[in-house]
Amino acid sequence: MRIDVLTIFPSMFEPVLGESIIKRAVNSGKAAIHLHDIRDYTTDKHRKVDDRPYGGGSGMVMAPQPIFSCCDEVVRKIKVAKSKRSIILLSPRGRCLTQKSAARLSKMKHLVLICGHYEGVDERVGRSLADEEISIGDYVLTGGELPAMVVIDAVVRLLPGVLGNASSAQNESFQEPSLEYPQYTRPAVFQGKKVPAVLLSGDHKAIDAWRRKEALKVTRKRRPDLLGR
Ligand SMILES: C[S@@+](CC[C@H](N)C(=O)[O-])C[C@H]1O[C@@H](n2cnc3c(N)ncnc32)[C@H](O)[C@@H]1O
Repeated sequence: MRIDVLTIFPSMFEPVLGESIIKRAVNSGKAAIHLHDIRDYTTDKHRKVDDRPYGGGSGMVMAPQPIFSCCDEVVRKIKVAKSKRSIILLSPRGRCLTQKSAARLSKMKHLVLICGHYEGVDERVGRSLADEEISIGDYVLTGGELPAMVVIDAVVRLLPGVLGNASSAQNESFQEPSLEYPQYTRPAVFQGKKVPAVLLSGDHKAIDAWRRKEALKVTRKRRPDLLGR
């Protein structure tokens, strides 16, 4: 998969892309992530990428021209069928990212992530350039960079061969419409707290049954809305 990120803060991505599973996915050629500084595409002589909102109001709005120019260049260079590409505007007004939408995006060949800033992005970017708008939750962040990194992480770890153990992704929270069962590791007793005996029994049928029951229990308690879906 190829991912192009359009941002005014490309350096924010380096620490995240250079570590752990994403780094491995990039090094093994399963994901290629390219960062583009939106300022490099502005026609403004002061490299301005924002302007005052029409109709008044506080703050500044990211102008459409540099974003359209940058995105057009990326799309022209990377020739992928439209059905295999998604141009995504990160926005608190978008549809909330879920495990299901991350799985859908992981089947694409090319993602373009547009990070907004200031008071947001000129509406024409969302309406005429982006295929979809994605939010990472019902709160407002300063910019689209952290949301873009969340999308990248959620999607890249689902690419075939990226996780060391393919079954890890299948047993996780949200894979079923439920949360994951409790996990324990050594020692069997820590500060007097014991690991449930069934997990030490070696009886895999009993372990599976216990895990299903515990997953249901924690979901019912913390996220009953998932069970209704
Ligand atoms: C300060 S926010 C703009 C918020 C906008 N004025 C509003 O009320 O909807 C600036 C940028 O951060 C990003 N952003 C903020 N919160 C986000 C969220 N929950 N999910 C995705 N992107 C978000 C978007 O790219 C947005 O354009």
